[in-house]
Amino acid sequence: MLTDVAPWTPTDAYVGGDWVEADEGRRFAVTNKATGEVIGEVPSMTAVETRRAIEAAEAALPAWRARTAAQRAEILQRWAALMLKQRDELARLLTLEQGKPLAESQAEIAYAASFLQWFAEEGRRIYGDIIPPHQPDKRIMVFKQGIGVACGITPWNFPSAMVTRKAAPALAAGCTFVLKPAEYTPLSALAVAALGEQAGVPGGVFNVVTCDKAGAAEIGAEMTSNPVVRKVAFTGSTATGKILMKQCAEHMKRISLELGGNAPFIVFDDADFAAALEGALICKFRNSGQTCISANRIFVQRGIHARFAAALAERAADLTVGSGLESGVQQGPLISPDAVAKVERHIADAQARGARLLTGGRRHTLGGTFFEPTVLDGIDQEMELSSAETFGPVAALRPFDNEDEVIRLANDTPYGLAAYVYTENNSRVWRLSEALESGIVGMNTGLISTEVAPFGGMKHSGFGREGSKYGIEDWVEVKYVCVGIRPAEGEA
Ligand code: SIN
Repeated sequence: MLTDVAPWTPTDAYVGGDWVEADEGRRFAVTNKATGEVIGEVPSMTAVETRRAIEAAEAALPAWRARTAAQRAEILQRWAALMLKQRDELARLLTLEQGKPLAESQAEIAYAASFLQWFAEEGRRIYGDIIPPHQPDKRIMVFKQGIGVACGITPWNFPSAMVTRKAAPALAAGCTFVLKPAEYTPLSALAVAALGEQAGVPGGVFNVVTCDKAGAAEIGAEMTSNPVVRKVAFTGSTATGKILMKQCAEHMKRISLELGGNAPFIVFDDADFAAALEGALICKFRNSGQTCISANRIFVQRGIHARFAAALAERAADLTVGSGLESGVQQGPLISPDAVAKVERHIADAQARGARLLTGGRRHTLGGTFFEPTVLDGIDQEMELSSAETFGPVAALRPFDNEDEVIRLANDTPYGLAAYVYTENNSRVWRLSEALESGIVGMNTGLISTEVAPFGGMKHSGFGREGSKYGIEDWVEVKYVCVGIRPAEGEA
């Protein structure tokens, strides 16, 4: 059963090149996040089917690994081209099951395809080294090999792009892959798999197992304990990341973790005011604030603070909220009632501790999981939203006086994924770039995502990098070969 989406959208899981049901035939519903209506049902799988998918990936590994990088690249490029050709259908599906406005979904499909294109190219440049030897009768070479069977667990906030950001470097490096997409948004992942199949990805090289919320821990445990799996890549909450990391440690498996953030967004008095305002709006309200790199704490220098807060509140109040499929909509629904409850909790906590509400603050009159774009002023470090990721449309501001103070405040968080700074002072650009404890710094920009740059965090935001030339390194083993050489015959 599938209504209201492109007819070719699969609703079965994908294992070993076959579209399959769960063994017990159980399925779970996927809903339209704007209306709550069921749009399809997909298999609710368990560790048993996951083990089978891992075996399929293991069986497919020797032939995939034996191909040249150029042959693998050809398939990845075809896959990207198919995604771009079907961009409208994929974007509509993404908006239906995730909620973001159609224009953002269109951008995400292009972003997702860009990882396939980038790593198709990068896979051809996995160079090794020849190292000057330590003894005259030795030669030393280093080469890099795909690590083998890998697993990915991806989130609902970017249901297409997070799939290709992991799978593309893995496949380009000669690994095979088993994916578990988020239970809120499995259809986008299955649609990506269907296009991979059309592009010629051999059966077993890319597999997708779907499950409901209750089954996720069991599948994660299988991925992190199965001896065949050599690496697990996860994007999601820090709490779940820590569990997966412990499980991987038990089995000495590699893991990369792109976890929560609590991004500071810093605006100095000398900033280009209009640019900073635009940057804050896009950075905060894109995807209804449901990105790991969303501005969670906005620090504005005292000289412009009041004017900036008022302007941001005015612009936020003007944002059009509605179903992502409707034209002109700038903010869709939140992913779930739990997400709404968390946003409400953060706002209530901040207000109880003295923050002032400048706009929004309530569930939207549209009902469901729609929420008003919200701006709060006068936050402090004790409030829940200063230490935990809000993951919703709440811009929270406070004034600051000087550079040292704001660096201290910005770094006063366990997280370290993204930070943003607006200033026209060139020396400050350098100082802040170095001082901020985050894996990514947006300097005079609120948009930092691209396939060409390394995406990832430090501290409790995890480790490992996705995208860019660095992104391939997480998917290869470095092997050193020491060759003993004999002297030519007749020589001593
Ligand atoms: C994320 O929120 O995890 C990804 C955001 C992005 O790549 O822009």
